[in-house]
Amino acid sequence: MITYLVTGGAGFIGSNYIHYMFREHKDIRIVNLDALTYAGNLDNLSDIGQGDSYRFVKGDICDRELVESIFRDEDIRYVIHFAAESHVDRSIADPDTFVRTNVLGTMNLLHCAYDAWVQPDGTFSEGCRFIHVSTDEVYGSLTGEGTYFYEDTPYDPHSPYSASKAGSDLLVKSFIDTYGFPANITNCSNNYGPYQFPEKLIPLMIQNALSGKALPVYGDGLNVRDWLYVEDHARGIDMVCQRGRLGEKYNIGGHNERQNIKIVETIIDLLREMLPEEDPRRAGVTRDLITYVEDRKGHDRRYAIAPDKIKSELGWEPLTNFEDGIRKTIRWYLDNEKWLEGVISGEYLRFYEQNYSGREKL
Ligand code: NAD
Ligand code: DAU
Repeated sequence: MITYLVTGGAGFIGSNYIHYMFREHKDIRIVNLDALTYAGNLDNLSDIGQGDSYRFVKGDICDRELVESIFRDEDIRYVIHFAAESHVDRSIADPDTFVRTNVLGTMNLLHCAYDAWVQPDGTFSEGCRFIHVSTDEVYGSLTGEGTYFYEDTPYDPHSPYSASKAGSDLLVKSFIDTYGFPANITNCSNNYGPYQFPEKLIPLMIQNALSGKALPVYGDGLNVRDWLYVEDHARGIDMVCQRGRLGEKYNIGGHNERQNIKIVETIIDLLREMLPEEDPRRAGVTRDLITYVEDRKGHDRRYAIAPDKIKSELGWEPLTNFEDGIRKTIRWYLDNEKWLEGVISGEYLRFYEQNYSGREKL
């Protein structure tokens, strides 16, 4: 039985990864370390019981004693590090929390994994590996048509979120370069799918449209993101962990660029198609809800990943195209209204008020 330490496994991508891993692998044990911030939700994992193959530990990745005790008590072979503060708008309002979790938390995990895995001769235990899950936002913003982020694109982060992720990537790189630490860094584009917290574009637009609320599009709505169905990301991480070359960086993305406004229009059109005629919400889901609002500060214009390396070295390719993925995602939110109601708590409403109420309409 191989034991994984997954950090941030109660969040969006982490919980999808855990579901994926238990579907795809028989003989694994997962220890999920998650602080259960506003973004962490044990309902995302309600079908996975504690037992021989799964243990949940509520705790902070910055807590040295706690993380050391996990490495002492468990025979951790792989660390899959998702835990982070992940929302750009929140990082603009409160950068310090991002530096603490994303930079110092990653540093703490590196220390603890190093101590647990290093041998007297300075090499590391056979087969151990640390996967640092990062983002394409570290590369900054693309300008010219047909340009892409490659693994060797220079880092140029603009938001406190992307700067903190860039800092954590470089710490991982420094452990690889200095100590020969067994790690990989993966940089992925925008994920979408089930269990995504409705502060992010796609679930926010679904939730607002269903409630007949305005759909706040930042700036001119022409910023471009490169969308990847979350299960394809989980599979990419698994492939890097099993077969990636140690010390290498892999970009993960599916050549799926869309302007934000097109995403919002697609959600409206699909909700109108998928809601039954007799559903009272259907009539309110129209393009009149689209409201252009003051832009995000420092808003990156375009992200687009070149996934050539992971494709040629590991044979990874996305299996879900956007047309299917967005339908599956909307279906999931329609079928899981209780989940959605559960996360739209006081904290969410406070954030919503703070982020949107002062924004000028354009
Ligand atoms: P998320 O915000 O949904 O989940 C983050 C999880 O980390 C939550 O469960 C939260 O409780 C936990 N967490 C936060 N601070 C913690 C701490 N100090 N100690 C322990 N746990 C803590 O994020 P996500 O969208 O699932 O992203 C996961 C990772 O993937 C992040 O590292 C993010 O930078 C990266 N990433 C995300 C995307 C995307 O589109 N969402 C794309 C590329 C990379
Ligand atoms: O690219 C990977 C990154 O994708 C991850 O590293 C981040 O963790 C993840 O949050 C995501 O960052 P973005 O800033 O791209 O995602 P978000 O869903 O916040 O916004 C997507 C686009 O939509 C962006 O151009 C801003 C715009 N937007 C977003 C919101 C929430 C709006 O126009 N209106 C909104 O209300």
